Amino acid sequence: MRRLEPPPDLRGRRARDPFWVAVTAYFNGVQRVRGMLRPAVPEVRPVDRTLTLVVQEVRREAEDVVSLRLGALGGGALPHWQPGCHLDLRLPSGRRRQYSLCGDPADRRAYRIAVRRLPDGGGGSAEVHRALTEGTVISAEGPRNAFPFLARERHLFIAGGIGITPILPMVRAAHDLGADWRLVYTGRTRGSLPFLDELRALPPERIEVRTDDRDGVPDAAGLLRGAPPDAAVYCCGPAPMIDAVRAAFVPGAGTLHYERFAPAPVADGRPFQVELRRSGLTLDVPADRSALDVIRDVLPDVAYSCRQGFCGTCRVVLLAGEADQRAPSDPDGDSLLVCVSRARAGRLTLDL
Ligand code: FES
Repeated sequence: MRRLEPPPDLRGRRARDPFWVAVTAYFNGVQRVRGMLRPAVPEVRPVDRTLTLVVQEVRREAEDVVSLRLGALGGGALPHWQPGCHLDLRLPSGRRRQYSLCGDPADRRAYRIAVRRLPDGGGGSAEVHRALTEGTVISAEGPRNAFPFLARERHLFIAGGIGITPILPMVRAAHDLGADWRLVYTGRTRGSLPFLDELRALPPERIEVRTDDRDGVPDAAGLLRGAPPDAAVYCCGPAPMIDAVRAAFVPGAGTLHYERFAPAPVADGRPFQVELRRSGLTLDVPADRSALDVIRDVLPDVAYSCRQGFCGTCRVVLLAGEADQRAPSDPDGDSLLVCVSRARAGRLTLDL
């Protein structure tokens, strides 16, 4: 609240003129009363999106793929979600991993995720298969949507293996909206493809299942064949499949939307060094590897999740050096996301 003071005289001394004393007393009194009548501004509090979930059911869906139904601990409705949303799970080991929701958005009693066990992954998928059993309590954040589904008149959906998880609710949404849609679903073998049984409830003439053992490895032109020029193309699957579809996609009236399950290869990388101050180590990061991957070779417990620069899990304090910030969420020069960001030159000193 601004207080009015009598104007000073020419020497800077506060005026004692009775007129000004009366005016300022009146003005300050009105201000005080207004302040008492003004409605209190509500305090802005950060939204806590942490959920405590319990594993209600684990089902085998395909070779090395299980689905999990996750309900609110103690029951109750879960936050709303849309096709394309994912959950950020905190696994019992402390690892954080993101999994697309692949159930029915109208079912507020449980979320469903599906996870393929990757023998050469970072251990998250193996932990889900091993440690998450019925009754396990787990915390999660979300749902968040980094792959939103925008309803158009025509859609082509392309899913590779476990990439069906975000695509499945999109297909159902397009079908329920009466849109024109087609799904191309690819994988090594039929036995490796989850949710084929659920797809049987949809018109079979709109679904093409291609497996490598029967049809050969598909090329991008084959995956995009028959897409109307104004179709919205949604693609999720292994990185090489997405890269090939991106390269073959001809922009025009149509649009391409994709979500990676694995990081893109390093582009325009130059070698540099990372000094891990607390660990007393200096490591060479070659041009074709991320700093995160090199750090994990010596510190396997360092936290990470998406490895694509959007979740923020791998953020590390930068103590010295000039960073080439490559993630949209790398806003300042005091820290960096080591999964994608690099050094402009020379060496980065990190608080690790
Ligand atoms: S692991 Fe997600 S931002 Fe680096």
